[in-house]
Amino acid sequence: MFNWFDHKLGIDLGTSNIRIYQKGRGIVLNEPSVVVQRKDNGSTEAVGKDAKEMIGRMPTHLDILHPIEDGVIANYDVTTLMLKYFLREIRGGQRWLKGTHVAVSVPTGITEVKKRAIQDAVQQAGASKITLIEEPLAAAMGANLAVNEPCGHLVVNIGGATTQAAIISLGGIVISNSIPKGGMTVDRSIVEWMKKRHGLAIGLPTAEDLKIQLGLAVMTGAEEYIEVKGRNLAHGLPQKINLQSMELQSLFDEYIHSIVEVIRLTIEKCPPELAGDVMQCGIVLCGGGALVGGLEHRLQAELGIPVCIAENPEQCVVLGTGKLLYSLPEKGFFKKNQVSNTTKDRNTIADQLGESAG
Ligand SMILES: Nc1ncnc2c1ncn2[C@@H]1O[C@H](COP(=O)(O)OP(=O)(O)OP(=O)(O)O)[C@@H](O)[C@H]1O
Ligand SMILES: [Mg+2]
Repeated sequence: MFNWFDHKLGIDLGTSNIRIYQKGRGIVLNEPSVVVQRKDNGSTEAVGKDAKEMIGRMPTHLDILHPIEDGVIANYDVTTLMLKYFLREIRGGQRWLKGTHVAVSVPTGITEVKKRAIQDAVQQAGASKITLIEEPLAAAMGANLAVNEPCGHLVVNIGGATTQAAIISLGGIVISNSIPKGGMTVDRSIVEWMKKRHGLAIGLPTAEDLKIQLGLAVMTGAEEYIEVKGRNLAHGLPQKINLQSMELQSLFDEYIHSIVEVIRLTIEKCPPELAGDVMQCGIVLCGGGALVGGLEHRLQAELGIPVCIAENPEQCVVLGTGKLLYSLPEKGFFKKNQVSNTTKDRNTIADQLGESAG
């Protein structure tokens, strides 16, 4: 039941998943960022988990939409629709109280237009006051790192589409780097591998299951087999094959190499004192991508620095937005972050997004 007196929310608007924290209640929503619509009239058929379950199984009159790409809004209208839907879910049909405050995480280094689009979409969905928090800082706060101390913490947030490495000290980001690779990159490369090596068409959900089930075996070199079902590309009929975990070694190696490089680059460019702190305190992994079995050991071996996974890594960012809510003064703080709400503004933002996407 929605608590009328705690109308402060934290949102992690991720490419794969959207998570919402409500002050006083904790995490109240965790759903895939997916929407299914009819092609002919654009009406919405399913949102979140229900929509994700339809991937690869849909009739031709339906479209699967991923409104968030690389942590930013790719489809403004569908993002607004999705946010409205989820916010309606968590408030149990009640109207928002005027003055609902929302803290939203955004990737570091995105353009003002993209930031503005996120603010505007959240406001359209019902929020009155909005503040943005950079994702690596939120992740570090959610991982319970002492971000305000004069000590460098290296946090690596591995999401579905992006990986961001950042060094945080004295409550701010000192340096950060990101790459457009995450858990979904592995899923896509597994789909390609199955096509090329086995002539078998599989969908992304099957590839994601394979990644989750075989990750540890690939990392440790254990020999494991798994049955994979798909469609034979030569004769078009369903087929089962036994996939050996080691076959996927090169795909994982390539992915890990990219993560190692982004971490290395971040350490290389940071002040020497902070590099010393990182050497001593180690690296903390956050994001759902950190759950690939054995990843922390591979990174530790490659970098020669201690690596650990935060508790509930996929929740760190949203928990960090939640912590921010507790530190905000009741009045006044949001003023500079408030955005206007006219139709003209909304159209302008949608247009600008369209232009920048093209
Ligand atoms: N147990 C697991 N093993 C391996 N990968 C996992 C596991 N659980 C989740 N993942 C992967 O984590 C990814 C999603 O992580 P997360 O929810 O942090 O992404 P996101 O925040 O939506 O994306 P982004 O931050 O890039 O916008 C998916 O690719 C998913 O397959
Ligand atoms: Mg994320």
